[in-house]
Formats: sequence, C-alpha cells, structure tokens
Amino acid sequence: MTDAYFEQNRLNWDDRAEIHIRDEAGGYRIEAFLAGEDNLHDIEHDEIGNVSGLRIAHLQCHIGIDTLCLARRGASCVGLDFSPKAIAAARMLAAKTGLDVPFVEGNVYDARQLIEGDFDMVYVTWGAIGWLPDIGRWARVVASLLKPGGRLYLLEGHPSFMQIDETAEDLRIGFDWKNPPDEPLTMNEETTYTGDTAKIVHAVTHEWLHPISEVVNAVIDAGLSIERLNEHERLAWQFAPWMAPVEGRRRMWAIPEGLPKMPVAYSIRARKT
Ligand SMILES: C[S@@+](CC[C@H](N)C(=O)[O-])C[C@H]1O[C@@H](n2cnc3c(N)ncnc32)[C@H](O)[C@@H]1O
Repeated sequence: MTDAYFEQNRLNWDDRAEIHIRDEAGGYRIEAFLAGEDNLHDIEHDEIGNVSGLRIAHLQCHIGIDTLCLARRGASCVGLDFSPKAIAAARMLAAKTGLDVPFVEGNVYDARQLIEGDFDMVYVTWGAIGWLPDIGRWARVVASLLKPGGRLYLLEGHPSFMQIDETAEDLRIGFDWKNPPDEPLTMNEETTYTGDTAKIVHAVTHEWLHPISEVVNAVIDAGLSIERLNEHERLAWQFAPWMAPVEGRRRMWAIPEGLPKMPVAYSIRARKT
C-alpha cells in the first residue's frame, strides 16, 4: 500500500512543481533568486552557521532553490527528490545560475543507493518528513549518508501545530497527534500553499504526523547525538488563512496577536558520533 501512497503523492508534487516553477504568485521568489538573492529564511540562516566547504545532501529538495542557495554559500551540494518535474525544474535553475549542483531523482528511502559519497551535513527543511510513513527508516538513511562527525539539520512544521484544523477560524485541534504508516491523513486540496490559483490535477495526498519524541528517538536509534532541539514561533508557509505575515530575510507566518501562542516549527541538530 505504501507504494500507492508514494505514487499519489508524487503525482501531486509533479503538479505542484509545475505551478511553483511558473511562480505566478511569487511565493518562490524565482526572479529574485535568479538575480542573486538568497532564499533561506531567518531560522535556518541563523542555525546552520557557515556551510562553506561542506558537502551537503539536501533531501526532498523540491525545485532546488534552497540547494542552490547553499551552493552559493560555498557548499558542495547534491539534491534529491522523487518528483521528476521538480528535479527537471531544479536542473533548469542550476543551468541558469551556472552552479554545478547535481540533482537526483528518487525516493528518499533509496538515497543511500542513489547518492555517492559521505556528507558533512544532511539538510532537510520545511514540509519534508510529513510525506514519509516510517521515520525510523528515514533516520537510518540520514545516518548512512553522514560522515563520522557529520550532522543532520532538520527544520520542520511543529507536529502539535500541524494537528490544527486549518479550515477552522481559530486554533482548533482537527487531527490525532500521530498516525501509523498504514493510516495516513488523506487530504484533497485543489490549490497549493504559495497563493497560486492554478488547480492541482492530482489533488489527493497522504501525509503522516510524527511527534517530536518519535523523530528524536529515531535519530538517536540511528546513531546520532542530539546537540540542539529548538521550537519556533514562525513557519515558512501560511498554514491557515488567519496566520499573520512576519517580515524578515524572507516572509514567514505566525499566530496573530489575540490568539494563544504555541510553537509552529521545530529544528534539530544531531551529529553522527
Ligand atoms: C514541501 S517540499 C520541500 C521543500 C524543500 N524544503 C525546499 O527546499 O523547497 C516537499 C518535497 O518532498 C518531496 N517528496 C515527498 N515524498 C518524497 C519521497 N518519499 N521521496 C523523495 N521526495 C519526496 C516532494 O516531491 C517535494 O518536492
């Protein structure tokens, strides 16, 4: 059954990649990126430190903009994603920017077989692991890609915040805090998160909520030491219509004044010992 979930998700991401690379709503800021602007948000910019000279594997890289931004910062990068349309877009952007960054098409669970070499950093951010049914298996793939002493940087939507029903008018829990691999959250959303109005043809997706304890324990079980676990009040996308924009290096979204505050994102730095 997992393969069927992956296949439906991949078709959905192909549709989104086509919409995102056209960037009619400007959510991916492709024009500015091509003109040389960096696209990382405040949180990852502040947390990753100097990446110059590092070998970085960017898993679930989508259309490759963040991968290319890391390369512009002097890292030697490879990006992987299972959407052929996303990978084609990433290769096109690499060609336009003249950056020598390989982009590999494949499932993240096959990354060790598909990508050669060991890495100083595995980089996974903003909307990635919720597409994966088995976090233990993901963590073992991450560990297998790292050199001894290499680190995982993970930055994700907070699973407690992701339990909110985004169609409700305020903070209201709509989903269980976790769901097993064979019971994904099946969604049907006709448009994407960038504000583009283009319709997604393959609208059905399957997602999994992974509690922070599950992620942390999977990373530890895979042989990594947790060095940092942070929670954040800003998210990279407008999860619900009531979220308020926060200006910074790049626009982010927060719970507006008047509603109780809670963390909306979290990040982990973990090192292979
Ligand atoms: C929200 S995007 C991640 C955005 C990313 N942080 C970036 O740099 O733009 C999620 C990506 O995960 C990819 N994806 C989902 N499931 C996957 C899987 N099983 N294997 C590889 N890629 C997957 C999708 O194709 C999509 O490009």
